[in-house]
Order: sequence, then structure tokens, then C-alpha cells
Amino acid sequence: MAKAKIAILISGAGTNMAALLYAAKHPDCPYEIVLVASNNPQAEGLKIAAAEGIETFAQSHEHIDRAVHDAMMHDRIVHAGATHVALAGYMRILSEAFVEKWEGRMLNIHPSLLPRYKGLNTHQSAIDAGDQVAGCSVHLVTAELDSGSVLGQIEVAIVEGDTADILAARVKMAEHQLYPRVLAEYVSRAIDPAWLTAKVRELALAQPESDEVTSHGMPCFGIIGGKKFAYVSLDHHGDGKTALLVKISGAEEQAMLIDSDEERYYRPAYFGDGWIGIRLDLGDTDWDHMGEWLAKSWRAVAPKKLTKLMDVAGEF
Ligand code: GRF
Repeated sequence: MAKAKIAILISGAGTNMAALLYAAKHPDCPYEIVLVASNNPQAEGLKIAAAEGIETFAQSHEHIDRAVHDAMMHDRIVHAGATHVALAGYMRILSEAFVEKWEGRMLNIHPSLLPRYKGLNTHQSAIDAGDQVAGCSVHLVTAELDSGSVLGQIEVAIVEGDTADILAARVKMAEHQLYPRVLAEYVSRAIDPAWLTAKVRELALAQPESDEVTSHGMPCFGIIGGKKFAYVSLDHHGDGKTALLVKISGAEEQAMLIDSDEERYYRPAYFGDGWIGIRLDLGDTDWDHMGEWLAKSWRAVAPKKLTKLMDVAGEF
């Protein structure tokens, strides 16, 4: 299976970057580091990455417009072939355009148990509040600072007499455990058949009057007592693919889709011209798009009385 390709953005010491990099050396690790980039040409972490033979890029943000600086970073990240971005002590607020481009594929590590203590001075805040535990979180990056969904956390007990520095050092150890693990889980689920099936299930069962059965060993979604509109093909006849099969208009649309992207679309064996196979295991599945495919497929088999009801509902 192809590994996810990670670009890490840092501004300083880069100890989290190093933790990700060393974890990536394990043969079972589902990601590899393709770039370490920084807004601080003096960042210590750049030297570590270079010594490890990783491509590095530094571009100071001084005297450059934020959007332009972000665009320069984005270009390098794309050029390095990255599929995901891991922020690891990157001390820059990112422009909305940059965040949008990497939405769902950019993670960050933060030294607190989010949603507590967003921003800076997290350790002192936890001590001042008399908290028993501090910790760290890995979360998805959204436009609002430190507010994307939390993917994983580790709690770290506060010891009597802890200063912010002492606590920070211990939380760092936890960070180094957490980040590689959460990143590995996150990039793996995008190709994990069970996770992909669950995603399809959620979208398919959101269609009106739909249910799930098993057909020819495949999870199969249809209209209750009616026709089927989707299947999840799981290594069917050992083809190694995880794919969504949905209805299409016929041979012409099938050929056009396959022609547009031969890796993603295929003619599902035994299903004929009225169906298309869409690979879900390429690591970049657009789930909004899959939702649209399922709705279209549902509509293609739904009885008139149901589609009419939907049309009327749609008018309100
Ligand atoms: C870490 O504490 C991380 O949680 C925060 O910035 C710090 C980066 O440290 N976002 P390092 O450069 O990885 O050592």
C-alpha cells in the first residue's frame, strides 16, 4: 500500500518533527516525510531534517504578505508531492485560503487538553487554574485557531511544585508519543476498508427509505422492499480494491468516467454497463462527491412516488 506523504511545518526546535520523522523510519509506518518547511530559516529542526536526508525549505515571513507567504509554502508542499500537512510548532496564523486547500488533510499538535487553553501560555494557565491534569491534543486544522476536531489526546498529571517549564517538558514527552500515533491512524483510515464502508453506510442510509443487506458478500444499500442503489466492493474476487458501486446512465457515461480518471473509475465485473466502480482507497476520496453519487444513484432506482415527495420537499 502506498504511504501517505507528509510535509511538516515548523518554526523552532522541531522535536515533534523529529518524533514524526523517527516514527516514519519504522517499516510499518503508513506515512513518510517528504518535506520539512519553516518560516524561520534559523529553526533548529531544519538542520535535523537535512541531516536525515529530508528535503527542507525555509522562507522567512518577514516583509511578505501573509497570503503570498502561504502560497509559497503551498507550492513547495505540492511540489514535494505531499498528501498531508503536519504543523509542529509552526508559529504562524494561516490564511483562510491555505487552510481551505488542506482541509481534512492538515493536523496540528497543541500543548493542552483542547478545548481548554487555546493559544499560548497553556501550561501556566493550567497551573494557575489549579488543574490536576494538563496534556496535549492533536487536532484537524480549521480556519478558527485550535478549534478543529480533536483526533487524540494524552493527559499528563500536574505534579506539586511544577513550573510552566517543568510541565512543558513533560507534556512534550507525551506529545512525542501522541503525534506519530494519531497521524498514523488518521492517514490509515483513509484506506481502511472498515472505515470506508462505515463512511458509505452513513451516506447511503441517509437516503430516504433505504436499508442495508448483504448481497454476494458485499454491503449493499437499497430502497426498502425495492431496488438496490449502491454496493461496497471489498477485495471482490481478490481485486484488492475497496470501491463504491453506483448506478449510471449506461455504457457511454461509463466510458467517459473511466476515460476521465482510469485509476479511480472502473467497470465493475458482473454488473454490466449500468454501474460504475469508484475506488475509495486512493487516500483522497471526496466524501461530499460520494454523497452526491449516492443521491443520484438512489434517484435512478427510486419509485416515482418517492422522488416526487423529495421534489416537493426540495421546494420548501
Ligand atoms: C509544541 O509544544 C507543540 O505542542 C506546539 O509548539 C511546540 C513545538 O515544539 N504547537 P517543537 O518545536 O516540536 O519542539
